[in-house]
Amino acid sequence: MGGGHQSLESSEIRIKEHPILDFPEREKVKFYWEGKELWGYEGEPIASALHAAGIKVLHESMKEGHPRGFFCAIGNCSSCLVVVDGVPNVRACTEKLRAGIHVEMQKGVGPALISKE
Ligand code: FES
Repeated sequence: MGGGHQSLESSEIRIKEHPILDFPEREKVKFYWEGKELWGYEGEPIASALHAAGIKVLHESMKEGHPRGFFCAIGNCSSCLVVVDGVPNVRACTEKLRAGIHVEMQKGVGPALISKE
């Protein structure tokens, strides 16, 4: 193989022009994936920002720990579950990106939520 291929994490995989769709200007914001700083556009689905950064495995299945990622992209399949700011079971394909959020891969059912009441 040799050099010449680009790291997926450093490439930007985004559609910039489309014959029938418009892409409105959006604010570029920082967020964190597994503690690593990334950027995306405010209001785009978290999964889109992660895909643009080359990150495709978002979740590990409950029983076997198999990798899961974007599948239906409309919030129906639960293949893209992630942990956002400590909250498990967030669908990355429908949850909007916000500045400063911390997103983690969800392993199985994810961390237990402990009530402080
Ligand atoms: S990809 Fe199916 S719910 Fe997100």
